[in-house]
Amino acid sequence: MPLVNTKEMFEKAYKGGYAIGAFNCNNMEIVQAITEAAKECNSPVILQVSAGARKYAKPVYLKKMVEAAVEDTGLPIVLHLDHGADFEICKDCIDGGFTSVMIDCSSKPFEENIEITRKVCEYAHNHVPYVTVEAELGTLAGIEDDVKVEHGAESYTRPEDVEEFVRRTGCDSLAIAIGTSHGAYKFKPEQCTRDPKTGKLVPPPLRFDILEEVSKRLPGFPIVLHGSSSVNQEYVDIINAHGGALKDAVGVPEEQLRQAARLAVCKINIDSDLRLALTAGIREHFDEHPEHFDPRQYIGDGRKYVKDIVKHKITEVLGSNDKL
Ligand code: G3H
Ligand code: 13P
Ligand code: ZN
Repeated sequence: MPLVNTKEMFEKAYKGGYAIGAFNCNNMEIVQAITEAAKECNSPVILQVSAGARKYAKPVYLKKMVEAAVEDTGLPIVLHLDHGADFEICKDCIDGGFTSVMIDCSSKPFEENIEITRKVCEYAHNHVPYVTVEAELGTLAGIEDDVKVEHGAESYTRPEDVEEFVRRTGCDSLAIAIGTSHGAYKFKPEQCTRDPKTGKLVPPPLRFDILEEVSKRLPGFPIVLHGSSSVNQEYVDIINAHGGALKDAVGVPEEQLRQAARLAVCKINIDSDLRLALTAGIREHFDEHPEHFDPRQYIGDGRKYVKDIVKHKITEVLGSNDKL
């Protein structure tokens, strides 16, 4: 099976009340961990690459690794550009064999966002084979490569804008802002309450009212959630027990993501949880085996933890297992 775009995947996900995991890839071990997990769960999967990943690993390596994963697993896999900042990077990825791109002009004025997104859609949709385009309305707090949005400066998606935006751009899916944010510190402690029993931070709930209003206005249209790591405590604890210092890291509760996946959300983006799992495996390995210096040993342990977390997300959060 060659690389696929998101069209059929999202149609099935929408009807089936589940979401496809879009996991960020930066190196071979991460690609292997994600795709082996997806294979064992009989799940379709999206491998996404940011501008930072392209800079780190070089586009050609990422493309060839993803092609290797397709050959190795036989799974339907989407190769997707995450947070494309302008037409040029989208074009470069489309020309280079990506099957899906995100154009992210969410920090630009509405008309400019429409204009650039429409241009990307025209190029992507006239490409043979058809390349799907994700766009974004509303801004998330956190860091996306060059754009940093402070907590408090984020803006929720305005449901009254979405029909015009989708109609005028022709985009295939829409990322919306309903309270998620990028990174491992999604909410400031003062935005959260503390669980009296565990002392852990409890974040404010996602704005399901916005999601429901958006999906009422765009029936059947696939919605995307960025910034959807849950910052699983298990990995934070391993990191901190082995020399790390992650204080008050907090993510989106998994039950809320499961709920979103049952609604119109067809793609859920997860990066930070993979970074945490990889770091936990490596830190634990170094701490327990100070005499080791073979990268296959410590990165191998990190890869195992990434595979574990991806399997957990597929089966317990996304619901995309056994959906091939
Ligand atoms: O949305 C951002 C992703 O987590 C990618 O992060 O730009 O550091 O590769 P990055
Ligand atoms: P997290 O930082 O929550 O993993 O979000 C990743 C993301 O949205 C990539 O586009
Ligand atoms: Zn994102």
